[in-house]
Amino acid sequence: MDKSANIEWHRSKVTKEDRRHLNHHNSFVVWFTGLSGSGKSTISVEVEKELHNMGVRTYRLDGDNIRHGLNKDLGFSPENRKENIRRIGEISKLMVEAGLVTLCAFISPYREDRDEIRKLLNAGEFIEVFVDASIGTCELRDPKGLYKKVRDGEIKGFTGIDSPYEAPVAPEITLDTDIQSIEESVQTIVSYLKTKGYLQ
Ligand code: PPS
Repeated sequence: MDKSANIEWHRSKVTKEDRRHLNHHNSFVVWFTGLSGSGKSTISVEVEKELHNMGVRTYRLDGDNIRHGLNKDLGFSPENRKENIRRIGEISKLMVEAGLVTLCAFISPYREDRDEIRKLLNAGEFIEVFVDASIGTCELRDPKGLYKKVRDGEIKGFTGIDSPYEAPVAPEITLDTDIQSIEESVQTIVSYLKTKGYLQ
């Protein structure tokens, strides 16, 4: 049975465009995808700081944080990862409606799930950033000691080791964090947003 039967959409008198107008900027999603330890969270934190300093209203959603609250009922099975990303997609859409530049940092290993979010949003509202780093680099960084736990057999189904990661086919931006510094990656994103007119 369709669980949303007998439910009607209730319109607001203030629109997304009204909110954007008040903010003096556009609203959209910058979606960071990549392996654990690739630099998604670190780079998104720095991009948010830079945008905030430019007077842009932002909000950042991050896998670790969201899994402490909203998605604490979800684990790392393929089904749970899919549901994790589906919920974040819906929240991102609300944040775009609210007029915010929304930065999302999730492994989001499945191409299909990321493409669903692109479809959920309007054209141009989803900027996919592939935070590319080799598994060797990620394992060397191992900021949370998780790769060590995987190697010690304490974690199963870890992305890039024994759980798949599907790299984007045509992301708007690719960062190679094997060789690019954090600052270079941040500037790549901010320059993209400026030159493509996103911050007007
Ligand atoms: S996903 O795949 O998009 O649903 O994952 P996400 O919500 O981004 O959460 C990833 C963080 O969870 C920690 N962690 C794991 N990652 C991958 N595989 C397994 N099995 C796993 N178990 C715990 C890890 O700290 C991830 O954070 P990041 O920032 O990516 O390192």
